[in-house]
This record gives sequence, structure tokens and C-alpha cells, in this order.
Amino acid sequence: MNSSVLAQASSQASPQAIARTTVIFTCVLAALAGLMFGLDIGVISGATQFIQKDFNIDDRTIEWIVSAMMLGAAIGALGAARMSSALGRKKSLIIGAILFVIGSLLCGFAWSPETLIMGRIVLGLAIGIATFTAPLYLAEVAPQSIRGSMISLYQLMITIGILLAFLSDTAFSYSGSWRWMLGIIAIPGVLFLFGVLFLPDSPRWLMMQGHKDEAKKILQRLRGDEAIVAKEIADIEAQLKQPQLGWQLFQQNKNFRRSVGLGVLLQLMQQFTGMNVVLYYAPKIFQSMGYDTQAQLWFTAIVGLTNVLATFIAIGLVDRLGRKPILYFGFVVMAIGLGIVGTMMHLGIKTQGEQYFTVGMLLIFIAGFAMSAGPLVWTLCSEVQPLKGRDFGIGASTFTNWVGNMIVGATFLSLLNGIGNANTFWLYAALNVVFIGLTFWLIPETKGVTLEQIESNLMAGKPLREIGQ
Ligand code: BGC
Repeated sequence: MNSSVLAQASSQASPQAIARTTVIFTCVLAALAGLMFGLDIGVISGATQFIQKDFNIDDRTIEWIVSAMMLGAAIGALGAARMSSALGRKKSLIIGAILFVIGSLLCGFAWSPETLIMGRIVLGLAIGIATFTAPLYLAEVAPQSIRGSMISLYQLMITIGILLAFLSDTAFSYSGSWRWMLGIIAIPGVLFLFGVLFLPDSPRWLMMQGHKDEAKKILQRLRGDEAIVAKEIADIEAQLKQPQLGWQLFQQNKNFRRSVGLGVLLQLMQQFTGMNVVLYYAPKIFQSMGYDTQAQLWFTAIVGLTNVLATFIAIGLVDRLGRKPILYFGFVVMAIGLGIVGTMMHLGIKTQGEQYFTVGMLLIFIAGFAMSAGPLVWTLCSEVQPLKGRDFGIGASTFTNWVGNMIVGATFLSLLNGIGNANTFWLYAALNVVFIGLTFWLIPETKGVTLEQIESNLMAGKPLREIGQ
């Protein structure tokens, strides 16, 4: 942050107020990784039909182009745990941002489907690294009082990124230039890179490296109160006495295996709601409803907007109503939305009224996801892991998010071609019904419970759905 601006502000504001501004600025900057995530997810949907025409390729190759990014992201998320502990969170984010720019440019200039797949893998690596590192960094720099809202902010950024990508795709669709669609996101990538260069290193990571003085200095800037800084430093020191055991703990401790399994299950549930099917292939879905190219992309942009707006519902309700009621409601809404879309496709969508009704149902599905499984799964995944296995546990669930995403992206067109539109949507509707049951049996309510309490319940062997009590 500009030091003269800070100096001027300091003559009027208290150190705590300045620190609060600094920490919020820092968190927003790191949460921009979510924006990159969203741009990456959103950008491909408007481009596929133009790519398909230009390179004259079949649906299978398109599925590969779509899902190559997820493959890269799964690998990136796996490598990120080690990288962010060896090089630090900040350097990992810088590497992620550089790869993001390279990947976008490679996609924009791709001279063959293979280069495009390569570019998408590089983009994926970038996003895998960022999606592991940014939430970790956020949790480490944000004060306890705003930690929960920082995770929501991150999800909000994801949805805004998706919307921006959809809007930019729509703008470029008039010229049909998929190269611009894919290439232009290098610009926010460069801005993100510059932003990340200004981030302070994570105090917790510095302490892990034995740089206590530097950690203190940074915390002082982020908290503005010596007593709070001293307490946090002591807390981090106490925590670091518990080494991250990861794989070793996983092999030895049955209860840790349960929490890792829970994180994996949550992410599989999130991906198999079918959300990304709709995001990646929305124009294709609208095409099958009989809309022309521009209308398809405008409707897709409305999908993106619904996704952003409904995320606010989750942010407002999650700490009041709790996680489980919102998840139940979300899965019910998603099952109904997709079930009706499938039925409409089965009956045939002929009149304009039927078209609007079907689009409305798809939007209801999107809202159901954005207000529930979208943000809540990330929240729950960060809450259920015991301290000494956190990095490993969150790494495993983030990896699963991308693998699930890849499976969904890589099979959708084949499903449509193989079992038909209606059956494909019914299949996803049925999965959402199954998730209502899984939420009942296995998912804990973690509202208003400390992480220590969750951990001690887990380690005492309580059933998963009771570890938040
Ligand atoms: C999911 C992404 C999804 C996005 C949609 C995220 O929580 O992990 O896969 O594309 O939400 O908003």
C-alpha cells in the first residue's frame, strides 16, 4: 500500500483503524485469486462453439479442451501444499499468477486443438495453486472476527469472475472471436500479479520458517495493537508445536481419515450437483432449447448474474440459520429445478412460454447452488479438519473439487449424446436427491462451534454428523 497515503491517514485515524483497512485491503487482494478461478471456469462456455467450428473438431475433443483445465488444477492443487510450505504463500500466489498469464496467452494464440489443451492445462495449474493457497493465506492473515466472511468473499469473487467471463464472451461473440475471449483474461491476470507483489508474507508461514521478528512486524501492520499481536504470536507458536503430520496422520489415525473422507465427500457432492455442467455448457443447453447464438450468450450472462446475487443469500444466512438447513434447502431446490428442466426437454420445448419457463427453472437451480453448496462446502471443508492435519485435509478436498469438476466436464456431452438431454438432467436431479440423504446422515452442523470443539469431538470418535455438537 502507498506509504504516503498511509502516513496521511495515520494523522487522522487510530492505528487499529489503519490496520483494519490494511488487513481488508490485503484480504481483498488475495481473494482476487477467486476472481481468476471464476474467469477460468466461465470463459470456456461461450468459446466452445466457435472453437468447434474453427478447428472442425468433435464433441469428445471439446470435452477434452473444457476439462484439461480441471486436470491441470487437480495437479496444481496437489503440488501447491508442498510449494506453499516450502516457498511460502506469497511466492506460490505469484507463481500461480504468472502461470495464469502464460496459460491465457497460450489459449488465445493456440494454433491447434492440442496447443489449446496445453494452454488449458497451464491455466489449470495456475488455478489449482491459487485455489489451495489463497484460502490458506486468507485464513492466516484475517483476524478471527472476519475469518468467516473472508471465505464468503472468496466465493463471491469466484461468481463475479464467472459473470465477467460470460459478459466478455457475449461481447466477443458478435465477432465470433474465441481467441479474444480466451486471451483477454491475461489482462486481469497481469493486474492480479502486480497486486500479489504488494501482499505481505503470511505471519504464520514466517514463523514456520523461524522468522519471528518479521512475522511480528507484519502482524503489527495488520492488527495495529501490540497486545493482540503478542497474543497471536503466542498462539501461532503454540500451534506450531503441533507439527503438520498429513499423510502420516492419515495412515495412523482413523478419526483423521474420517474427516478427510468428509471433506472429499463434500466436494464430490458439490461437483455432482451438476452446477458446472450448466456453467460450462449453458450456451449449448440454450441452443438445444432453440435460441440463436447471441440469445444463448445473453441467457448465459443471466445465469452468471443469478449466481452472483444468490451467493449474497448464503452470506447473509449462513451464520444465522446454520449450514445444514441451507444445504437441505439448496439440494431440494436444485433437484426440483433440474427435474423440471429434464421433464421439459422430454416433453419438447415448443412455445416461447415453455422456453422461458425452462430457462426460469435452470436459473432456480443456479440460485439453489449459489445459496448453498457453492459457498458452504468450502466453509465446511475448512472447518472439519483437525489442526495437525489441516494442510493435508484441505489439500485432499481441494484436489477432489477439481477431479469431480473434471469428471463432470468431461462426460456431459457424451451423456447428452448417449442417454439424451432429458435423462442427463434427470440423472443430476436424482443425485441431488441422494445428497439430501447424505447431508442428513453424514454432514455435521458447525454453526457457532469453535474449531477446537469440532476437533475434540472428531478425535473422540463421535459420528461425523455429531462432531459439531
Ligand atoms: C465451485 C466451482 C463452481 C463455482 C460456481 C464453486 O464453489 O467449486 O466448481 O464453478 O462455485 O459459482
